Amino acid sequence: MAGRTLLAFRSTGAALLVASAALGGLWLNAPQAAPAAVKATSRDPLTVRLKDTGGKTRSLSDLRDAKALVVVFLGTQCPIANSYAETLSGLQNRFESAGVRFLGVNANPTDTRAAVAAHAKEHRLSFPVWKDANQELADALGARVTPEVFVLNAERAVRYQGRIDDGYASRARKNAAVKSPDLEQALEAVLAGRPVSTPVTQALGCAIPRSQKSAAAATKATYHRDVAPILQERCQGCHRPGQVAPFSLLTYADAKNWAGEIKEFTQSRQMPPWLAEPGHGEFQDVRRMSDAEIATLAQWADAGAPEGSRKDARPARVWSDEWMLGKPDLVLRPPAAYQVAATGDDVFQAFVLPTGLTEDKQVVAIDFRPGNARVVHHVVTFVDTTGKGRKLDEADPEPGYTTGPGGVQIPGAAIQGVWAPGNLPRFLPAGVGRPLPKGSDLVVQVHYHKTGKVETDQTQVALYFGKEPAKQVAHTAIVGPFSIDIPADAARHEVKHTFTLPLDLQILNIMPHMHLLGKDLKVTATLPDGKQQDLVWIKDWDYRWQDSYRYKEPLLLPRGTKLELVAHFDNTSANPRNPSNPPRRVRFGEQTTDEMAFAIMEVVLAPKAPAPKP
Ligand code: HEC
Repeated sequence: MAGRTLLAFRSTGAALLVASAALGGLWLNAPQAAPAAVKATSRDPLTVRLKDTGGKTRSLSDLRDAKALVVVFLGTQCPIANSYAETLSGLQNRFESAGVRFLGVNANPTDTRAAVAAHAKEHRLSFPVWKDANQELADALGARVTPEVFVLNAERAVRYQGRIDDGYASRARKNAAVKSPDLEQALEAVLAGRPVSTPVTQALGCAIPRSQKSAAAATKATYHRDVAPILQERCQGCHRPGQVAPFSLLTYADAKNWAGEIKEFTQSRQMPPWLAEPGHGEFQDVRRMSDAEIATLAQWADAGAPEGSRKDARPARVWSDEWMLGKPDLVLRPPAAYQVAATGDDVFQAFVLPTGLTEDKQVVAIDFRPGNARVVHHVVTFVDTTGKGRKLDEADPEPGYTTGPGGVQIPGAAIQGVWAPGNLPRFLPAGVGRPLPKGSDLVVQVHYHKTGKVETDQTQVALYFGKEPAKQVAHTAIVGPFSIDIPADAARHEVKHTFTLPLDLQILNIMPHMHLLGKDLKVTATLPDGKQQDLVWIKDWDYRWQDSYRYKEPLLLPRGTKLELVAHFDNTSANPRNPSNPPRRVRFGEQTTDEMAFAIMEVVLAPKAPAPKP
């Protein structure tokens, strides 16, 4: 198959391949630790006063009977800390009889005592959580992130400080195996009176926001006047309850809590997510921020996140809970909620939703509402006219049926739509549609990623039908090589593929697709008259943000246009996403640990393209 190109107008093969976009997965990247090291004070941790969830004043010396004490810093909104809830409760149950006590401590300024109590209950923590309202214990121990653990021996000397295990990093690499159970090993050593072999490890997680004020920050930026408008415009679409982002940025308290990360993630342009380089393709709804906006957020964070005057406050942006494109023609949802286990590998579950249509329709837009944004990371829908999906569903006792990460085991099922975090619904241009035949079923494949506690989900799909029969049908076209072979340790392996269009096409949007080793990808068109034009350039690939970029105007590419795709891969151990360490040879394939380099395009046959110049 070397060098073959697929340009699939009836998307059998395309279905499989587009579905594999789901393979990329959306995992938390190993986050940077808080940049500023916190200076531990000479304060004795045992005398710091804390409050339990009932409001009673407490201190570590209340737990004097414990043979060893585990203090774990938690936050109510940190997805990383939350993913460890079950692990922590499990360890506490295991070591309880040996005289070990666990104590959760919440030092985040904006987590109220009530929120701490509700969170402990929701995550069924088997140990108490106390509030460190003045961050005195965090300062005394030198805690910087959640989750970060401290093991104190019988004499209450700190014998271990750092991560719970390396599972977070390995989970981010799609490899659930914990290689280094650091907390467990530390406890075993402390109970046996042995020194802990690695007494300090680096905890990865969410920074504990500090009320630090930098004298050097001579900025005037305030929340109400300068920051809130940016957050409303750039962030709240995703950072509000029920949406894809793991925490909300609707209020001053939210923003202050996350100020350090807001600066860090906007400066590195990881947020808001938008990978397409400016100047290489003219796209709609560009999410890229201006340098000035980024600088304002940084100045504000450096100045200690001042609120400023409420007189400057602009009204809160009203976020409608309605579907973004208005009232849909048809909303489909599985009959029952699906239960997602607390831990383990990702699950791909396909739900069969009868459309009940009595006449053929043209879909002009599709939108998705994940029932539970914490677990739903991708959705791919297929049209099934064969009834095969129903049979597979009946054979599986749970709602829907479990599939691999690729297709839905229905030969010939065409793709109807794809949702990934950050995808916004859009109408196809006037006169363009995707057929949905009467009596067909929509098979909705949902990619679930587990959060550390049992979750349920019921994802809805909204369909918008064209009022008139479509004049043009939108097809999925995929350009890229079917053979890739990346040697172990290659730092910048190049993959190049060219394809000459056999007919006139209009490209509506383009979605680059690679897996974990991808570094960059560029698609260039050379028109028959020799003119060159970049279709898209992803300079810094991130498999978590597999957006489909919609062109401002459909791009007309005449027959004879040469498309060239150039991609690079990093297969060294320096690539933190590399799923194998030491690196191994990686070839083309469907598994996340295989590789791909595709441009997946939604196209229509051009109605009246100018004839190629002779
Ligand atoms: C298109 C949706 C979207 C937009 C827009 C967006 N975010 Fe996010 N943000 C997310 C998602 C999803 C995550 C979780 C990422 C993950 O799980 O890896 C996230 C995570 C974050 C994080 C935490 C990263 C970490 O791992 O600790 C910060 C900080 C953040 N966003 C800030 C912002 C700011 C500031 C803006 C606006 C300037 C913004 N985001 C806009 C979706 C979005």
